[in-house]
Amino acid sequence: MKVSIKVNGQNYTRDIEERTLLVHFLREQAGLTGTHIGCETSLCGACTVLLNGNAVKSCTVLAASADGTEVTTVEGLAKGNELHPIQEGFWEKHGLQCGFCTPGFLMATVQLLERNPNPTEDEIRHGLEGNYCRCTGYHNIVKAVQFAAAKMRGEAIAAD
Ligand code: FES
Ligand code: FES
Repeated sequence: MKVSIKVNGQNYTRDIEERTLLVHFLREQAGLTGTHIGCETSLCGACTVLLNGNAVKSCTVLAASADGTEVTTVEGLAKGNELHPIQEGFWEKHGLQCGFCTPGFLMATVQLLERNPNPTEDEIRHGLEGNYCRCTGYHNIVKAVQFAAAKMRGEAIAAD
């Protein structure tokens, strides 16, 4: 079947099998491998993308059902060489180690901060509870999100 999905502003029209998952469409059809596959059972969040602005686990979405939608992946966050403030936060606050979970955390954080630009630590932990990280212990991820939130609110950011 033919499916057309706009990803990061670019249209991808591909012939796919009906059972193709969105995460496989993104990685194999669109060539955007920043979206990771961890569990493929909706548990880990490594595959999180924005679908029409809402964070979804792309291993739980059929590409066919995303026909005609707009998707943003981690590749769509930076503007040229300029990192998105959320990417900057993870960089500055060491919010990653191996980085496998990071694309999913970044995309989930986009939605979290859109809905709540000034979240408490509890709200950050709750907002990201669908994303698993095996390396960082989450402490620095929370600091990264706080950094990004402050920057996106236009506030001065304290150095470590
Ligand atoms: S790969 Fe989708 S939630 Fe783990
Ligand atoms: S940084 Fe390794 S899983 Fe999160």
